[in-house]
Amino acid sequence: ALPRDLEGLRVVISAGGTREPLDPVRYLGNRSSGKQGYALARVAAQRGAEVTLVAAHTVDLPDPAGAAVVHVSTADQLSEVVRAESATADVVVMAAAVADFRPASRAEHKIKKSDDGGAPTVELVRNPDILAGLVQARPPGQVVVGFAAETGDAGGDVLHHARAKLKRKGADLLVVNAVGEGKAFEVEDNSGWLLGADGTEVPIPLGAKAQLAAAVWDAVVGLRKTQGV
Ligand code: C5P
Repeated sequence: ALPRDLEGLRVVISAGGTREPLDPVRYLGNRSSGKQGYALARVAAQRGAEVTLVAAHTVDLPDPAGAAVVHVSTADQLSEVVRAESATADVVVMAAAVADFRPASRAEHKIKKSDDGGAPTVELVRNPDILAGLVQARPPGQVVVGFAAETGDAGGDVLHHARAKLKRKGADLLVVNAVGEGKAFEVEDNSGWLLGADGTEVPIPLGAKAQLAAAVWDAVVGLRKTQGV
């Protein structure tokens, strides 16, 4: 049986990939399956947490048992729900693949092909960094966890970049996944590292996404102990 070491904690987890509409029928999206975020929610509920899962687009996944699920689509919607839910959370995990850019405007009607064989130009604008915003606004004692999908080989560069990202965003923990051909996205297994703002670096061997989820919750429990909350 799993430990009930998250009993009494309210956790908010975002998962899946956002979609940024171009017109009524098209969007910019990404390859996130949502499986890692759903595994985090499932394991947290099994360990006794009160779980809210803010789910963007995923492959067909059942709602995790014991979690309240709020479905969203765009980065803007995800931001709004996560921010509201986080106000009273003990732990927030941003596992969602949030679009960094969105089309500057959304066409009211389907964009048509022109007769001259030309193609439209899509102007993009930046989406706000939700994770960084959560860190700025967090209540005392709240643990904030981010994800980083990095391409490249293990070792040197990936972890160097990830460390810089952790610092830039101000989160307590960063889950670093190596991505690329057949890695992390759309597959059942995951591997990577858990970087702590305190300088810790825990490798996570290739395994089921539930296993990575367990490692994240172990680290959160450890962090709360050292922080004395
Ligand atoms: O900067 P990058 O997109 O690699 O950071 C990934 C982390 O930041 C993830 O935890 C993701 O959920 C979060 N993120 C966010 N808002 C964005 C982009 C990413 O919260 N606009």
